[in-house]
Amino acid sequence: MIKYIGSKRRLVPVLSAIAAASGARSALDLFTGTTRVAQAFKQQGLAVSAVDTARYAEVFARCYIETDAASVDHPALRDAIAYLDGLGGRAGYVTETFCVRSRFFQPFNGERIDAVRDAIEAEFAGSPLYPVLLTSLIEAADRVDSTTGLQMAYVKRWAPRSFAPLRLRVPELLVGSGSAIRADAARVGATLGHFDLAYLDPPYNQHRYFTNYHVWETLVAWDAPEHYGVACKRIDARADHTKSVFNSKRTMIPALTALVRELSCELMMLSYNDESWLSLDALVEMCGHHEAVRTLGLPSARYVGARIGIHNPAGQRVGTVSHLHNTEYLVVAGARGPVARATAALEAVGLAPTG
Ligand SMILES: C[S@@+](CC[C@H](N)C(=O)[O-])C[C@H]1O[C@@H](n2cnc3c(N)ncnc32)[C@H](O)[C@@H]1O
Repeated sequence: MIKYIGSKRRLVPVLSAIAAASGARSALDLFTGTTRVAQAFKQQGLAVSAVDTARYAEVFARCYIETDAASVDHPALRDAIAYLDGLGGRAGYVTETFCVRSRFFQPFNGERIDAVRDAIEAEFAGSPLYPVLLTSLIEAADRVDSTTGLQMAYVKRWAPRSFAPLRLRVPELLVGSGSAIRADAARVGATLGHFDLAYLDPPYNQHRYFTNYHVWETLVAWDAPEHYGVACKRIDARADHTKSVFNSKRTMIPALTALVRELSCELMMLSYNDESWLSLDALVEMCGHHEAVRTLGLPSARYVGARIGIHNPAGQRVGTVSHLHNTEYLVVAGARGPVARATAALEAVGLAPTG
């Protein structure tokens, strides 16, 4: 799985425990990102729909959620990965843009990313293996990048992992059914249908995923876009259609309020963070149309960039870090019965709801 800010690694066992206790058979992972949560639900046997605006998130969802491991031609997949992994490098857009003009990858790896990506497009477009191979490439590139986990910048000296050669692995596919939907949650919430369980993990501040992970967007779109700035961001990062209503304080609160109201589900779980624009009280009030609402607060380590501190372009430390921890909130809302079962599940793993 790629390095991803806001990824819910620590929360997955909690969400899984609630899903198991609820007896849910279908689940929605809105704002799915890495698909980590959707994967956990699929592993529990739920039919999962995974939604996100990001192109790479759709690819991950087509790989891990939509693809049923039981119907994959595994020898063909292994052969395809071995073939791609054996290709020599050939400099193209990635090498020029992300290795020469910027320094996200070492050139010898950039050349291989170019060659593998070209081969996936030329030889596997339209194949059921396509999203699986693309996922394998993005995950391989992520293991040898030279960032702190965001693509707004690269580190001044090559990161130690960037010296390792790019290696493709076969993604660990899951048995079961699901669907990948690339869409704006604010537009499709009312049309997605009914789910036993819905998990919402929206962005909680002005930092945009489109620019934070622009290299993965480009690797999927494979459209050699014009770019700007030191980080060589895609030119369409400036366009309105790539901006999310959840990244602006003015638009986020009404959008989330409407979304929470229009989703059709028995039990809703919403992740939020004490660095967000919304207070916990406001969130609880937002869920006020549900019969019962409980909240859980979990201490969490902040993103690594925040831990390293603030530096000027010469690499000197110029600011201090205000704090290294924040609190992740989970709001659980729905009919009294399912919320009571969710609360009991939390208590069983030693987590008492705080509200
Ligand atoms: C906090 S991250 C989710 C992380 C995810 N739960 C995980 O564990 O990987 C928020 C996600 O919201 C997506 N996003 C932003 N605006 C969106 C919108 N309007 N509709 C759907 N997804 C959006 C971003 O692309 C990002 O993947």
